[in-house]
Amino acid sequence: MPLVSAKEILDDANKKNYAVGAFNINDMEFLKAIFSAAESEKAPIIIAASEGAIKYAGAEMLYAMTKTMADKSKIPVALHLDHGSNLNSVLIAIKAGFTSVMIDASHYLFEENLKITKQVVNICKPLGISVEAELGRLKGIEDNVSVADRDAVLINPAEAKDFVESSGIDFLAPAIGTSHGAFKFKGEAKLDFERLKKVKELTHIPLVLHGASSVPERASKKFEEFGGDLKGAKGVPFDVLKEAIKYGINKVNTDTDLRIAFLAKVRESFATDKSQIDPRKIFGPAMEYVTDVIKERMKILGCSGKA
Ligand code: G3H
Ligand code: 13P
Ligand code: ZN
Repeated sequence: MPLVSAKEILDDANKKNYAVGAFNINDMEFLKAIFSAAESEKAPIIIAASEGAIKYAGAEMLYAMTKTMADKSKIPVALHLDHGSNLNSVLIAIKAGFTSVMIDASHYLFEENLKITKQVVNICKPLGISVEAELGRLKGIEDNVSVADRDAVLINPAEAKDFVESSGIDFLAPAIGTSHGAFKFKGEAKLDFERLKKVKELTHIPLVLHGASSVPERASKKFEEFGGDLKGAKGVPFDVLKEAIKYGINKVNTDTDLRIAFLAKVRESFATDKSQIDPRKIFGPAMEYVTDVIKERMKILGCSGKA
C-alpha cells in the first residue's frame, strides 16, 4: 500500500499503548531486512533515514526503494527523516516524498527550538506530513549527577506541554537519559521514568525514545567471537524498554543494534568462508540475521500483529 504518515501509525500505538520500531536505513540490505521482519511479525514500521543516509544514498534513492517495497506490502510503512538539523534538510526530504520528518533543533534554547519547529509544522501540516521534535539533550545520565545537572540535560515536563501546544507537532522525543550509539551506560541502565510519566500526562501525544538500541547479547557475542571489539558496549535492556513503553513511549529508534548484527554476521562469514568473492553470499546471511534481531525486538515493543 502507499506510504502513510508516521502520525497515522503512532496514533494507534498511543491509543493502544504499544511501540513501533523506527529502524534506520542507508542501503537496500537493511531496508529488505526490516521489511522481512515486518512481514513476518505483521508489524507496522517506520523507516528512518538520517542526513548521513541521505548524503550516502540520496533522498530519491531511499524514497524509491522504500516506496517500491511498501507498494508490494500490506504493512503500514512511513518514511521518516531522522534528526533533520535544518529547514533545508526537511525540504529535501519532503521533495523526495518522505511522509514524516524530525526537526531536531534541541541544541538551541527553547524559544529558538520552538521557532524552527513551528516553521516546519507550518510547511508539513498542509501536506499531511507528520513532524517530530526533540526537547532536552541525548546524553547518558550517571547516578551521581546533581539535580541541577540532570535538569540541564533532560526534558522539562512543563516546557514540554508548552512546546507541544505552541508548535502543533505530532510526536515528541523527550531526553530521559538515553544516548546514541553502543555506549549508553557505564553502570546500571537507568532512565528517568518519573519525567517520562509527567511528559505523557501533560502532552498525551506519542513519545519517541531515541538511542534505544539494546546491544543484544547474541549479536554482540558473535561480533566479538569473530574478532570484533565492542569495548564493553551497553544498551537499553529489554525490560527497561518495556517499562518505557508502559509509561508512554510509542516510537523506539533503533540503528546501532542493526549495525552490530549486520557486521557480526559479516565478520562470521569472512572468518568461516575465506575464499568467498560474491558479496551476495556475505550480505544475504547478514540481512537474515538483522531480520532475526528485529523480529525479536518487535515482540518486545508490542507491535507484532498490529499491522
Ligand atoms: O541518530 C542517529 C542515527 O543512528 C543515524 O546515524 O547520523 O550515523 O546516519 P547517522
Ligand atoms: P541507537 O544508536 O541506540 O540505535 O539510536 C538510534 C536513534 O536514536 C536514531 O534516531
Ligand atoms: Zn536519534
